[in-house]
Amino acid sequence: MTRVFSGVKPTGHLTLGNYLGAMRRWAAVDQHRSDALFCVVDLHALTVDHDPARVRRLSRQAASLLLAAGLDPELCTVFVQSHVDEHARLSYVLECVATDGEMRRMIQYKEKAARERGGSVRLSLLTYPVLMAADILAYGTDEVPVGDDQTQHVELARDLAVRFNQRYGHTFVVPRATGPAVAARVMNLQDPTSKMGKSEDTGPGIVYLLDEPDVVRKKVMRAVTDSGRDVVYDREERAGLANLLEILAACTGGDPAELAGGYDSYGALKKDTAEAVVETLRPVRERHKELCADPGYVEGVLEDGAGKARAMARPTVDAAYRGIGLLPPAGASR
Ligand code: TYM
Repeated sequence: MTRVFSGVKPTGHLTLGNYLGAMRRWAAVDQHRSDALFCVVDLHALTVDHDPARVRRLSRQAASLLLAAGLDPELCTVFVQSHVDEHARLSYVLECVATDGEMRRMIQYKEKAARERGGSVRLSLLTYPVLMAADILAYGTDEVPVGDDQTQHVELARDLAVRFNQRYGHTFVVPRATGPAVAARVMNLQDPTSKMGKSEDTGPGIVYLLDEPDVVRKKVMRAVTDSGRDVVYDREERAGLANLLEILAACTGGDPAELAGGYDSYGALKKDTAEAVVETLRPVRERHKELCADPGYVEGVLEDGAGKARAMARPTVDAAYRGIGLLPPAGASR
């Protein structure tokens, strides 16, 4: 059976981008047709300035939102990265296979480091993609369902898997990224040239999964478009409009270019998009509310999930340790 792994980073409140680009498909498709693991990747949240209490809070919230989005612990494994030591164990070994040049080429690193304007960044921000590769490779993952912004990181995981296998013997499955048909990169409603990202900023351009319906409506109605009048789907020239059409298409199951033909005003498009988003997020918000009333349930799911994940990752990480030349502890099977 195909093995699927993916994750979300608890650096901010989860957004419509996370949902349409990744989580929704995990619940609707991946968990049903594969042996799938979904992870709150909390170690990754320590790569930028952080508040420990907030990371804990957001990690809990992200776990409940994964379940609220429809992940079913009977069908897939849901867990928190730091509960499974194999991620960090493997990350170090992969650092001994990766090069610093590869790390410095990563677009997300370049963008985030540039934002520091010459100030120092954490070393873990540079090595973050290696930890992400470890997340993926530890589980013998075939497919990694992600939004567009993560495909370069999955490529790195592929490269490291191939390199390790060539040098030290076949150990890792070589994974590949998969993406949604539309909304692989949901853009910020106030700045449609940049991604709707949870950690970047707060505010009117980002729809959060837990926003109240009226807040969602307001944000969508105020989305930046352009001074044109006709509704056409053109990602290059009409980025704001294209973003709305993609969001509408993703929420209603249509095609952005075809949907454009049904509108002759921006106002009508925004109104329908706002309602479509509200209806798409409604069940997630409702289920999240129920789960908040039952924190013991979520904790139980995470505990079981970590146990299952550990058992799955251990043999592969042990094999990587042996392959690269580390002496097995006395009593371990060789
Ligand atoms: P993160 O937490 O930024 O995002 C989680 C998932 O949501 C997708 N996504 C988007 N998709 C479309 N439009 C957007 N605006 C948008 N914003 C986010 C992301 O592509 C991602 O699929 N490095 C990862 C977390 C991670 C991971 C992994 C993922 C760590 N280890 C192993 C897969 C496998 C990240 O920061 O995702």
